[in-house]
Amino acid sequence: MSSKYKEILGKYANARENLVSAMQDIQESEGYISPEAVKEAAEYFSISKADLYSVVSFYAQFKFTKPGRHTIKVCKGTACHVRGSGSLLSALEERLKIKEGQTTPDGRISLERVACLGACALAPAIVVDEKVHARITLPELEKILNSLD
Ligand code: FES
Repeated sequence: MSSKYKEILGKYANARENLVSAMQDIQESEGYISPEAVKEAAEYFSISKADLYSVVSFYAQFKFTKPGRHTIKVCKGTACHVRGSGSLLSALEERLKIKEGQTTPDGRISLERVACLGACALAPAIVVDEKVHARITLPELEKILNSLD
């Protein structure tokens, strides 16, 4: 196999029960599952690409589009919702001209909604590139957006 995924796939025996773990490793390394990764993993595990997609897409954790340079996660938990996370999400969608789950066409920012971050006292909270921002207001959101390259 002359593959860029050879090292990751080679850690696993060619058995279907290892498929999800191998794909998790690939996603960890690249941030998503590329079409090339699907092709090579399907060959490695001797299954069709359609079969691989149907197994892997069962798990919400897998992403099939390349993430942006930055990721903004808006909490959809109850405490954040009550304190206005919906307005934050709407403002982000309007400003970035994308919907949750999408990435700006220039590859700059991906927007996601996530379950309770466990920081309810800080509601509404968002996570930007793994950093939690507490009690976010719309002007603060604007500042954060402007600070991202
Ligand atoms: S509901 Fe948002 S952090 Fe818990």
